[in-house]
Amino acid sequence: MANRWTNDLSGRDVTPEHIYMNRRTLLAGLAASAALPGMARGQSLPEPNSWDDITSYNNYYEFGTGKGDPARNAHRLTVSPWTVRIDGLVDKPGDYAFDDIMKNMTIEERIYRFRCVEAWSMVVPWNGFELADLLDMVGVQGAAKYVAFETVARPEEMPGLRSRVLDWPYVEGLRLDEAMHPLTIMATGIYGRDIPKQNGAPLRLVVPWKYGYKSIKSIVRITLTDKEPPTSWNKSQPSEYGFYSNVNPTVDHPRWSQASERRIGGGLFSSRIDTLMFNGYEQEVASLYKDMDLVKYH
Ligand code: MTE
Repeated sequence: MANRWTNDLSGRDVTPEHIYMNRRTLLAGLAASAALPGMARGQSLPEPNSWDDITSYNNYYEFGTGKGDPARNAHRLTVSPWTVRIDGLVDKPGDYAFDDIMKNMTIEERIYRFRCVEAWSMVVPWNGFELADLLDMVGVQGAAKYVAFETVARPEEMPGLRSRVLDWPYVEGLRLDEAMHPLTIMATGIYGRDIPKQNGAPLRLVVPWKYGYKSIKSIVRITLTDKEPPTSWNKSQPSEYGFYSNVNPTVDHPRWSQASERRIGGGLFSSRIDTLMFNGYEQEVASLYKDMDLVKYH
């Protein structure tokens, strides 16, 4: 459905695709630039690392906790056929084939800010559909207040499951009004093509006003419930990660400030920029949290 959302970002703001895919080079470059104060703005980067180093740098703990592990191991994941179980407080619970879901959804490109907790951000063109459209398709019942999500857990394809670093399967949750918000999408593509496996193929969540870890990857189950669902990072480190995880420059993570960020690809030597409340989507989403103490409900 068109025009149910607003956004001030355009193609000109987009982080180049090779930078999204090869963050490691950039982040290594940033570290190097910090160590080379004499280097002028615009001067070329130190030579990149090996190919293994640069193919990716991201988090998908089911494939290992090293930043290079997802790119190295995610090829093992079978993403077709794919089925999503939708259950709980819905009128039409069932196992939905990914291809059937896609036939019923309107796929659009959305250019969103993507802000990771580690104080860097990108602007990414996602292709996907509104989660609200999927929830409307299955019929949300009146008693439902939250949406719980679950990632696939296949030990034979996901070597990271051998480690107890998180309690598997990876789980996430949203309040129903957050899930129904037009900015909340289920992404199936990125930069105009299918999402690579290490980035959450075939279907992942994107909630642009929240920190990146809410973007649960490779979703196989969506459950409507009347209770706040558990989330993987909150279960693992409750003092550091709350349920809401809204980008909020005034609430520091216990181990680092959340007040500023570095926009990757916005010029390699770009200085830090102030992080915006709700990642810049304040106008769109602040009303969801009015009268809430966002320090307590972080
Ligand atoms: N989803 C699953 N299933 N497992 C994970 O380890 N990591 C999260 C999130 N979704 C993660 C996940 C974290 S910490 C981040 S920052 C984002 O995915 C990274 O998404 P990206 O690889 O597209 O940048």
